[in-house]
Amino acid sequence: MDKTIEKIVSLCKRRGFIFQSSEIYGGFSAVYDYGPLGVDLKNNLSQLWWKEMTQNHENIVGLDSGILMHPKIWEASGHLGAFNDPLVDCKRCKSRFRADEVVEDIDDQDWASVQCPSCGAIGSLTEPRQFNLMFKTNVGAVEETGTEAFLRPETAQGIYVNYQLVQGSMRLKVPFGIAQIGKAFRNEIIARNFIFRTREFEQMEMQYFVKPGTDDYSMIEWKNKRMKFYEDQLNINKSNLQFHEHGENELAHYAKEAWDIEYKFPFGWSEIEGVHNRTDFDLTRHSEYSRKNLSYFDQPNNDRFIPYIIETSAGLNRMLLTVLADSYWEDNENNRIVMRFHPRLAPIKAVVCPLTKKDGLPEKARMIIELLKPHFKVVFDQQGSIGKRYYRQDEAGTPYGVTVDHKSLEDDTVTLRNRDTQRQNRISIDRLVEELMKKVL
Ligand code: GAP
Repeated sequence: MDKTIEKIVSLCKRRGFIFQSSEIYGGFSAVYDYGPLGVDLKNNLSQLWWKEMTQNHENIVGLDSGILMHPKIWEASGHLGAFNDPLVDCKRCKSRFRADEVVEDIDDQDWASVQCPSCGAIGSLTEPRQFNLMFKTNVGAVEETGTEAFLRPETAQGIYVNYQLVQGSMRLKVPFGIAQIGKAFRNEIIARNFIFRTREFEQMEMQYFVKPGTDDYSMIEWKNKRMKFYEDQLNINKSNLQFHEHGENELAHYAKEAWDIEYKFPFGWSEIEGVHNRTDFDLTRHSEYSRKNLSYFDQPNNDRFIPYIIETSAGLNRMLLTVLADSYWEDNENNRIVMRFHPRLAPIKAVVCPLTKKDGLPEKARMIIELLKPHFKVVFDQQGSIGKRYYRQDEAGTPYGVTVDHKSLEDDTVTLRNRDTQRQNRISIDRLVEELMKKVL
């Protein structure tokens, strides 16, 4: 099977998962809009992550901080000074690349002998130039007198600057975590591969505050937990997942150790989540810049320290792309495309179809919709042949199909179709809710 990103993009548009932003105006580069099925799938993913963090871990709590924050935060965090992508331009074909994607070691490079990855010319690339990725805006009534502010490029800083308020109000003891889901913005120069790298995206970050010296152990623990999340909760094929450790040249300015969880996308192995040991870098810097003491007092041991932070940083949109790519299946034998989402993730759990539009079958099917809809998302479909209706839902990834036929009127049974095997079995209507609940939750 030839699983290309173009095929996934096309299915996403056709079935209402994801649209190019501002399409009627010719599109707006590197921003995407999520359609009815996309938003439900995205919500299912973020709810799973939220539950995993804040419900399955008693010592992790949630937070929702603002996108706009005090501009000094970005000086302290180092983003104003160091949040740059070195870029190179091809003077011949005008393509632009991140320098570290063209060569491995950008510092020790003779650029005159490098080949342009696009047109193949040698010596046509410029020397790398720095570019700050933060979006600027102005806060206040008049632009000239207002304060310059930034759209946050990561959600993490909102957690760091609130850490003492959260810790104090919830009486948390180290080790504890703070989790947050929210939008982040980066003026990415090279945006490509659909929703993989965009200018507006969502992060799901958890910052785990630990005693210095226990950070290496926590790193191992969180690496394992996060990999298991993709395997067990999202059902991603294990052979498509791997770890990649950052070498010294790849480490972000704040990190002592960093690992990426990578997925084998149609365009190659790429990062979907980072697990970082940020040490006491961020809290120390915020202490300096805010002149507030951000240390933690460990009462039982009469010890005071700045906690180390282990960060797990996932991109919700990349997680979505991972699930889309992993689920896409061309069933050539049956001439259909199926999104094999785990039923827990599927945006629609079941389609209810009357076999024909007459003889009271639609009314009976509507009655079943009423029965199911308080429990999970279902749709009614009576348009076209039953085969066509099922194939539409296969592309939407709907795991179950309920068909109401003439026998249903006699004995209150329906057929229940499994999306992947296409097998059907008869089931009594009064067992339907229980049977489906077991499968989809
Ligand atoms: N707080 C740490 C941090 O932001 P990062 O590696 O720059 O680390 C973490 O980003 C995650 O956020 C990435 O693994 C990716 O899933 C997501 N991400 C980053 N930039 C993105 C972009 N331009 N578009 C979509 N997702 C992005």
